[in-house]
Amino acid sequence: MTSVELTPFRTGDTPLPDVVILTHKLTRDYDMGGEVVHALRGVNIQIKRNEFVAVMGPSGSGKSTLMNLIGCLDTPTAGEYWLNSQKVSDLSDDELARIRTKRSGSCSRRSTCSPGRAPSTTWSCR
Ligand SMILES: Nc1ncnc2c1ncn2[C@@H]1O[C@H](COP(=O)(O)OP(=O)(O)O)[C@@H](O)[C@H]1O
Ligand SMILES: [Mg+2]
Repeated sequence: MTSVELTPFRTGDTPLPDVVILTHKLTRDYDMGGEVVHALRGVNIQIKRNEFVAVMGPSGSGKSTLMNLIGCLDTPTAGEYWLNSQKVSDLSDDELARIRTKRSGSCSRRSTCSPGRAPSTTWSCR
């Protein structure tokens, strides 16, 4: 990811009001029956109101994992996620569902490869 200058943020701080999305040391591990996949290792992001941001990286670099967290579809293993000045990283699944209906929308791409068929791509938005 191309990095931009971030306002210093420490654990215990609250984001400035114009920061819509802030992650602090965002971490997501997947436990694969004993083997742990470290998908995100302490990601710091700050996105202000009216900013447009692209997340780019090779396959497996953690883009979808990050989008799932930002879209309140998943909770981090560690670290903080603040959405519109509300700390959402430690909310329950029900509370996250309420935030999803109110605040977030996303568009995702799924590519499918099956033997003998051309690869197909499906876009879904919500
Ligand atoms: N549900 C999951 N269970 C286990 N490992 C996963 C899961 N989702 C993603 N991963 C692993 O996490 C890493 C990041 O994957 P992902 O977020 O899908 O990256 P990208 O979207 O950039 O291709 C990869 O090593 C991937 O195999
Ligand atoms: Mg992906």
